[in-house]
Amino acid sequence: ADVLRVALAGLGTVGGGVIRVLDENRELIARRAGRPIEVVAVSARDRLKNRGVDLSRFAWVDDTATLADVEADVIVELIGGSDGPALALARRTLAAGKGLVTANKAMLAHHGLDLARAAEEAGTALKFEAAVAGGIPVIKGLREGAAANAIGRVYGILNGTCNFILSKMESEGRDFAEVLAEAQALGFAEADPSFDIDGVDAAHKLSILASLAFGTAPAFDAVEISGIRHLLAADIAEAAALGYRVRLIGVAEAGASGLFQRVHAHLVPSDHPLAHVTGATNAVVAEGNFVGRLLFQGAGAGAGPTASAVVADLIDIARGEFGPAYAMPADALATTAAADSGER
Ligand code: HSE
Repeated sequence: ADVLRVALAGLGTVGGGVIRVLDENRELIARRAGRPIEVVAVSARDRLKNRGVDLSRFAWVDDTATLADVEADVIVELIGGSDGPALALARRTLAAGKGLVTANKAMLAHHGLDLARAAEEAGTALKFEAAVAGGIPVIKGLREGAAANAIGRVYGILNGTCNFILSKMESEGRDFAEVLAEAQALGFAEADPSFDIDGVDAAHKLSILASLAFGTAPAFDAVEISGIRHLLAADIAEAAALGYRVRLIGVAEAGASGLFQRVHAHLVPSDHPLAHVTGATNAVVAEGNFVGRLLFQGAGAGAGPTASAVVADLIDIARGEFGPAYAMPADALATTAAADSGER
């Protein structure tokens, strides 16, 4: 069968993970995809950096945006950043009628509607399972699993770094700064960790989840955001004494005046499922009017889990199974966006 040819931009933690998953699970992926999936070209900032993967078998492209022009069927964008080279590559890829797989939550939070339109116009795939909650198939779960339901509320723990920090501060009584340094060393914090600890990363992901759950354009600017940098170990100990855990929660809810989106530190009763989510784990709850409460939980960051989601998207594309980029056609998104991001 025809090989699905993949060009990969960005060779950080996740990029390296994608190459390893495709290598190690080559046979089973080809079986499930109905054809082999092969990386043919790569691009990253520094060609000489040692990443522990053999890149000599791939074509190297210096100018990342031109990766869209190589002979490939799908471009995987793992550069990050809401604009700049990632957005340039995404636009050029879709304009060329190629499929785009991205883990870039910031780009989707800011430009998701435009990109969805471009993908629909070109009749090509825009897939982003890895952009929200790493390895947890929550995009698939919402778009496909809960497709029969009206969703009343979607909420959860969307940032692994914050959850790691909060649970360590709780279990070990340690200081915020010290635990943050550990999270950075472990490699799941963002390049700019203020995106993690100030709630911005969680808000990016929340706006994407909300757009799927409510059929609206991602409205990042309408998210009320606060983070965790002001929290002391003593605050967390006090909450624990009262029977609560502190968690950074993103919540999106359909209300009378539109869509309400908020990211902030919550007191979660210690018998609530989210109170038991510790470490760099993510968890998403979706409430559907027929299915009831769904809980998705798993690794929200890291090479293996995030690469697993990227490759799942590639397998869908290889099979020709990809629907519209969003739950609704882009036209419907455009007409509901203004009302939903309105006054609250
Ligand atoms: N910095 C993010 C987190 C990585 O800690 O959850 C995954 O988006």
